Amino acid sequence: MSAALEASRMGVQQRPLAGEWQAGTPAAASRLEIGGLTLGYGRRIIVRDCTLASLAGGHITALLGPNGAGKSTLLRGLAGLLPARGSVKLNGQEMIGRSLEARARHITYMPQSLPQGVALTVMEALVGALKASPPGAGGLPVSGREAAELALALLERLGIAHLALVGLDRLSGGQRQMAGLAQALVRKPEVLLLDEPTSALDLRYQLQVMRLVQQLTREKGLVTVVVLHDLGLAARFADHIVVLGDGTICAEGEPERTLTPAMLAEVYGVSARVERCSHGHLQIMADAPLAG
Ligand SMILES: Nc1ncnc2c1ncn2[C@@H]1O[C@H](COP(=O)(O)OP(=O)(O)OP(=O)(O)O)[C@@H](O)[C@H]1O
Ligand SMILES: [Mg+2]
Repeated sequence: MSAALEASRMGVQQRPLAGEWQAGTPAAASRLEIGGLTLGYGRRIIVRDCTLASLAGGHITALLGPNGAGKSTLLRGLAGLLPARGSVKLNGQEMIGRSLEARARHITYMPQSLPQGVALTVMEALVGALKASPPGAGGLPVSGREAAELALALLERLGIAHLALVGLDRLSGGQRQMAGLAQALVRKPEVLLLDEPTSALDLRYQLQVMRLVQQLTREKGLVTVVVLHDLGLAARFADHIVVLGDGTICAEGEPERTLTPAMLAEVYGVSARVERCSHGHLQIMADAPLAG
């Protein structure tokens, strides 16, 4: 049965939605300020004294750094999944110390590895997420019908409406990543934290996902932080780059100023070239690992 058919069986009207997931709805931009954030696991501190003075809504920040640098740990801390010292202020309101549920109304997080063995369809997972935590700050509870309507509109925008009725445990790796992204987006967050959202995607979906994340970030005024290992994608889609090395911020700024051979040598330990292609995009070519 097609998603549209099933949706109509569930009582979902096939009319243009009132703008929720359609392009072009402007929204007020949010602002995230991170001050002296320190966190880890038990007594082991992983991220030390991380300060990002102002991450502006409508902009994408790419969080880069080598394996084990602490990128996922930092995102978990921002999402409220790990205890942290310091300050995380969203639009001037302190998030540290708030309940996970209260934070989840504002901040959504897509983990690097999605949970396995969930016996729900893509649509059921989205509807469940919406009913458990209604969209947006202080959102009102949504009915089953509204939730299905919102979920289907989002799947259509992501180009995966054909997966609506497929079980999560039957999806390919890339399809699971797309479904995970849908779960992060469906609650209409103010802050969107994505941990390597393109790592399992083919070339077309990588571009499609980054383009959509960019559009939604602009339209909804989201503060978006994306962990990426593909520095070319970061250069192309990020407004702001933060490079984490061994739990501390090593470099921060615009892609052109941050993605330099010197940074790549120091933080990633590679000799690399950074050049512009014929389309004007920054290309990062790692030539060789450096000794030591
Ligand atoms: N659940 C955990 N318990 C204890 N230590 C952990 C846990 N998760 C990660 N770590 C440690 O924290 C450090 C940072 O890990 P993290 O996953 O944040 O790195 P990362 O930058 O996301 O790396 P990658 O690019 O490989 O995903 C590593 O030394 C890792 O071993
Ligand atoms: Mg990680």
